[in-house]
Amino acid sequence: MSSKAKIAVLVSGGGTNLQALIDAQRSGIIASGEIKLVISNNEGAYALERAKKAGISAIVCNKKVLGDEFEPTLIEILDSNHIDIIVLAGFMCILSERFTSHFANRIINVHPSLIPAFCGKGFYGLRVHEAALNYGVKVTGATVHFVNEIPDGGKIIMQKAVYIKENDTPETLQRRVMEEAEWKILPMSVEKVSKEIIK
Ligand code: GAR
Repeated sequence: MSSKAKIAVLVSGGGTNLQALIDAQRSGIIASGEIKLVISNNEGAYALERAKKAGISAIVCNKKVLGDEFEPTLIEILDSNHIDIIVLAGFMCILSERFTSHFANRIINVHPSLIPAFCGKGFYGLRVHEAALNYGVKVTGATVHFVNEIPDGGKIIMQKAVYIKENDTPETLQRRVMEEAEWKILPMSVEKVSKEIIK
């Protein structure tokens, strides 16, 4: 493959990680891939606005509406758009083995902790930071990893540590983990995987 890797970003909410990817594409940090498509399972996701502002096609795929057809529909959209890499950027749906094996080593997720801490089923969004603060760890961070059938269990691509401050709340910690870790290692990981795929 010689041209750029075709990237789809799957989102559910605010989309700050999607924004980091869009910005990284503009600044040249992502040079080996191109974001072709954004898919949200939530029609109210602000991430959809971010995609539209950046001129990227955005599609809503609602799990509740589609039921059993949710994953087959996603697969059909991704395959028909010849997508090479799927980035889960705050995508709050667990994907089945059928889906993950269809795109083996092609799905990347960003998780807001240092895996294997505070990860797996039930650990998402603010809950992850609440758990880290409740446990009393002094260091947390973010992980970018490949996605397989085990939630947050695939091979790690990059990690970055973030120190916890005495007065941190889940909200202040979430913001700092995003700023210091997620928005940096997600674009870097996407570039790394894109470069390997187009080789
Ligand atoms: C991010 O912190 C991301 O790591 C987390 O949700 C947030 C989405 O924010 N994802 C998970 O917890 C997945 N297990 P965003 O919509 O602003 O990118």
